[in-house]
Amino acid sequence: MKADFGVIGLAVMGQNLVLNVEDKGFSVAVFNRTAERTKEFVENRAQGKKIVPAYSLEEFVEALTRPRKILIMVKAGAPVDAVLEGLYPLLERGDLVIDGGNSHHDDTERRIKEAEERGFLYLGVGISGGEYGALRGPSIMAGGHREGYELVQGIFEAIAAKGPDGPCCAYFGPGSAGHYVKMVHNGIEYAIMETIVEAYDLMKRGLGMSPDEMAGVFGDWNRRELGGYLFEITERILHYKDPETGEPLVELILDTAKQKGTGKWSTQSALDLGTPVPTIAMAVFARIISAFKEERVVASKVLPGPDPALGTDREEFVRRLFGAVYLSVIAAYAQGLRQLRDASSERCYGLDLSEAARVWMAGCIIRSVLLVPIRKVLLDNPELPLLFLAEPFKSAWAEYHGDLRWVTARAHEHGIPTPAMDSALTFVDAFRTERLPANLIQAQRDFFGAHTYQRIDKEGTFHTDWEAVA
Ligand code: 6PG
Repeated sequence: MKADFGVIGLAVMGQNLVLNVEDKGFSVAVFNRTAERTKEFVENRAQGKKIVPAYSLEEFVEALTRPRKILIMVKAGAPVDAVLEGLYPLLERGDLVIDGGNSHHDDTERRIKEAEERGFLYLGVGISGGEYGALRGPSIMAGGHREGYELVQGIFEAIAAKGPDGPCCAYFGPGSAGHYVKMVHNGIEYAIMETIVEAYDLMKRGLGMSPDEMAGVFGDWNRRELGGYLFEITERILHYKDPETGEPLVELILDTAKQKGTGKWSTQSALDLGTPVPTIAMAVFARIISAFKEERVVASKVLPGPDPALGTDREEFVRRLFGAVYLSVIAAYAQGLRQLRDASSERCYGLDLSEAARVWMAGCIIRSVLLVPIRKVLLDNPELPLLFLAEPFKSAWAEYHGDLRWVTARAHEHGIPTPAMDSALTFVDAFRTERLPANLIQAQRDFFGAHTYQRIDKEGTFHTDWEAVA
């Protein structure tokens, strides 16, 4: 008996996906670069299951039914190419290779071409939900050869998280469409996380609230319009006590955030497209600044600022903070979805944005009750330039923009950085401004570089000899 599906790479995500696929009734062949890990997996987690261990790529490929369906779960970058190089000489026409890591979309485009030249099918698939999601139901964003997707659609739909509108799994389009959607998912993830930590900082340093008190606030928001995974885990993190010291563990963790690159790539690609994602970008910069720990320690002693204590009524502040966070989170989705819209036309993905909202409803890190109205808006108006232009987000802006202004103004007065919230506010303010000051930029460019400008009172392109008249 040959196996229905193959997985290369048995780190925790890979192992959990294998167990999830097997649990849905499919047999799985597995291979890992180091044999010990395969042995360990088979002994500890695969007993009595339809899981076939292989100790060489040849053995692995032999163990699979044709056309072979092989999921690669190794670190993004060179390790993926190394696996492909070993695998390709062993495959036959029509076999399908799936990269399930957070690969850069340019790498995926290149690999699809290389696979095509050899007669293989290729999918670049974003899988969100971490270790738990891999085992219990991830959100799956696929792109590449549609015929390839058809080969694994049944398996993917069986293992995916079940959302209110179906399994959280979809084919998004050709080429790197799936990896691109996952990259933007991660950009949104960065922006929501940064918004949450700014709220935490304001409550902690500004209001002197304890982790348990703050957990209560995040828990309350999680049961309201902001219900979602990142709010849920924040509540749980803030309640968690370090078993060794009995202290809230979060306060014992070093304040330098790491990153593996997807938020940065999302921002880089947005810059290339000319699409504004300031809240995602600010979240990336905030992580970068957090990593300058030693420099910040020095600067904290020489650069003065105001007392962070907000000195405002706690209840009122927390009430208005909700509005600020709510709009910033909507801004994160709005910017990410706008990026997907623009990327789709530039890169010919043919993305259905409402499908992105649907697939993000469960299983993934940015799952949120907000995705239900977001999907509806995108179904009604797939070309909408910005979520805030449609209900219920238009009304949310009207209701809460005063709170976002008030909260960020207090933050500035007290020297507490709120880059995600600030950028959400100034982004929407710029977007809703009929006449921006960019006329002066046009004049400056023309002054120093004869770059020309347009006028509002007549057609054409103009240049002024500014030195002569100034
Ligand atoms: C997910 C996560 C996952 C991973 C990120 C973390 O959707 O399950 O986004 O892909 O946790 O890569 O990214 P950083 O290390 O860049 O924070």
